[in-house]
Amino acid sequence: MNKLWNNFVGWVDARFPLTETFEYHMSKYYAPKNFNFWYFFGVLSMVVLVNQLLTGIWLTMFYTPSADAAYDSVAGYIMYDVSYGWLLRYMHSTGASAFFVVVYLHMFRGLLYGSYKKPRELLWIIGMMIYLALMAEGFFGYVLPWGNMSYWGAQVIVNLAGAVPFVGGDLVEWVRGDFLISGATLNRFFALHVVAIPLVLVALVFLHLVALHHVGSNNPYGIEVKKNKGPDGIPMDTVPFHPYYTVHDLVGIVIFLMVFTTVIFFFPDGGGYFLERPNFEAANPLKTPAHIAPVWYYTPFYAMLRATPSMFGSAFPGVIVMGGAIAILFVLPWLDRSPVKAMRFKGWMSKVWLAIFVVSFVVLGYLGVQPSDGHTLGMGNTTLAQILTVLYFLYFILMPVYTSIEKCKTEPARLSEGGH
Ligand code: HEM
Repeated sequence: MNKLWNNFVGWVDARFPLTETFEYHMSKYYAPKNFNFWYFFGVLSMVVLVNQLLTGIWLTMFYTPSADAAYDSVAGYIMYDVSYGWLLRYMHSTGASAFFVVVYLHMFRGLLYGSYKKPRELLWIIGMMIYLALMAEGFFGYVLPWGNMSYWGAQVIVNLAGAVPFVGGDLVEWVRGDFLISGATLNRFFALHVVAIPLVLVALVFLHLVALHHVGSNNPYGIEVKKNKGPDGIPMDTVPFHPYYTVHDLVGIVIFLMVFTTVIFFFPDGGGYFLERPNFEAANPLKTPAHIAPVWYYTPFYAMLRATPSMFGSAFPGVIVMGGAIAILFVLPWLDRSPVKAMRFKGWMSKVWLAIFVVSFVVLGYLGVQPSDGHTLGMGNTTLAQILTVLYFLYFILMPVYTSIEKCKTEPARLSEGGH
């Protein structure tokens, strides 16, 4: 049997770099041996991506992309008639929230250990492109069940394009494909959600991993392990990714799946945060939901949008602030001037600013789901959101300053044994 298998692999290897690819990316990919908790979220992002792709394909088999039938096909047919349709739907809708949970933690790890710094700038930028694609994917998907929040959410977000000076009106009409949000809009969002963006996402994740394996993984010490090679040319503080981290990651995957399935079976709507209440009613252009708020993973940016004063009745300044809050993450590798990567060796200023950034982001997220009064967040909340928005930006804008002037600890030359 073994001989037969070896012959088969040999036959393939002569025609396709199978063993070579496996070795390059798995059994001879040398990863730092001090990966910790935060290093689970990359592989978990991949698990959730596969879950979304598979459940998405199955949902598409039963979903009807038309304004007349979409709501019934999801809320009625898939939820009640299709065998295990409810499970497919909840795996996908809870999966969307899980995606953002793991991706946010994955990105936070980058901030913690300076994983965006040289030579991983491009890896970080590709990550940011994934994040943008993911936001678009989540938005288009949210519109598909054609519930009342789908409809009004689409209305609010698409109308933001109208804030662009001069061409705004034409732009909104072009995006909608109609004079109002309609079946034409639903059809194009369906095409983007099930075909275009998943293709882009998968391609970007592939590039992300190619870039990672080219430069090598960072680690909680932020030390470049490739600098210390043994006589065999293998970096000394590393272990082969396979079998060491494949087995290690399996533990993380199993724990994640336990949490994920608990949410799916016991809290599938996440208390109204994963599936919002108004979305249990069909889209109704004549009935605006009492509080229009996007799903939780967009709310930090939504709070910034609503907290920014409009100019001549236009929301353009808010759109710029919201776009700027995401855009500034792209240039992060060039804002951090610290001689060290990992937070544990940086000075107190970096630590304090990272804490301010995290608190601002989380509290903005909380404010973004609060009922609004008109277009703003309500008096007290608006002021708080404005202060937090300023702090959010200051974390980045002041970074070149505080990372240059603060006193850092000296990085050790090698990872200490079992350093976690
Ligand atoms: C679908 C989404 C994503 C997937 C599947 C994914 C996958 C991965 C995997 C498997 C790793 C290696 C394991 C690990 O270090 O945890 C990794 C590393 C990394 N990712 Fe992602 N990623 C995604 C999104 C992002 C985003 C949004 C960013 C940031 C904007 C990002 C930035 C990074 C960085 C900087 C590393 C290297 C970390 C280090 O070595 O310390 N990734 N990614």
